[in-house]
Amino acid sequence: MAQTATLQRATAVGGAPGAGTGAPTRKVTIRVLRFNPEADREPALRDYAVQVEPTDRVLDALNQIKWYQDGTLTYRRSCAHGVCGSDAMRINGVNRLACKVLMKDLGEVVTVEPLMGFRVIKDMVVDMEPFFAQYRSVLPFMINDARPPSRERLQSVEDRERFDDTTKCILCAACTTSCPSFWANEEFVGPAAIVNAHRFIFDSRDQGAAERLDRLNSREGVWRCRTIFNCTEACPREIRITQAIGEVKKAILYKQTT
Ligand code: SF4
Ligand code: F3S
Ligand code: FES
Repeated sequence: MAQTATLQRATAVGGAPGAGTGAPTRKVTIRVLRFNPEADREPALRDYAVQVEPTDRVLDALNQIKWYQDGTLTYRRSCAHGVCGSDAMRINGVNRLACKVLMKDLGEVVTVEPLMGFRVIKDMVVDMEPFFAQYRSVLPFMINDARPPSRERLQSVEDRERFDDTTKCILCAACTTSCPSFWANEEFVGPAAIVNAHRFIFDSRDQGAAERLDRLNSREGVWRCRTIFNCTEACPREIRITQAIGEVKKAILYKQTT
C-alpha cells in the first residue's frame, strides 16, 4: 500500500516525487560538492534535477535525490523541523538548516556544501567531534554542590529571563563555522561554546561561573572574537550571539554574572 502511494506520487510529476499537495511544481538543479577518493582526484560539483513544490524545503529536495536518484548522497537529518540541529550546511554559500529553507526562496540552481572548518567525512557530513569537544570544555551543565532543597531550586522570572535567549541553542554549528576567527584558528572555542557557557554563567542557580569564565579568559577563549557578527546572522534560532559573547567578556572583566 505504502509502495503504491509512493509510486503514485512519483508518477504525478513524470517520475520525480514532489507533487504531494497538488501545488504547481518547478524544476530546480541541486548542485552538490562530491568526492569519491577511490575514483576522483579532487572534489567536483555534480548537478541533480529535481521537481519541487513551493513549500518544499531544501531537505525535501535532498531526500528526493537520495530516495529516487542517488542513494550515495550523504547528509545528516533527523527532526526535519529545525529542532535537532543536524542538517546545517552551506546553501548557496550561506550556513542554513536544510529543513528551514524553502525552495521557493531560492533560484533555479541551489548549491549545497558542507560546513566550513571541519573535516569532511562524506558530502555534507562533517566531523563534529572538535565542535563538541569545545562545547564540553565550557562545562555546559548545572554546577551546584549545595544541598538540594526538598523540592526544586527556585528562580525568579527575572533571573530566568537573564539567560533565556541562550537556552535556545540546538548545537547546529552554523555560527562557529561562519566565524572568520574560527576559520583562522580552529583552536578558538567558537561562538556556540560561548553561547552554551553563557546559558549557565548567568543562571542564578549555578555555581560554576568562575571556572567557566577562567576557561574562556584564555588564549583561545572569548578574546579571539572580533565582533564580526557572522555568527549572529547565521543562527537559525536567532540567538543574539554577539551580544551574549559581549556579556561574557564583560563578566570576565568586571567579575559580574548578574
Ligand atoms: Fe546553532 Fe545558533 Fe546554537 Fe550556534 S548558537 S550552534 S547557530 S543554534
Ligand atoms: Fe566570530 Fe561571531 Fe565573534 S562571527 S568574531 S564569534 S561576533
Ligand atoms: Fe533537525 Fe533540520 S533535521 S534541524
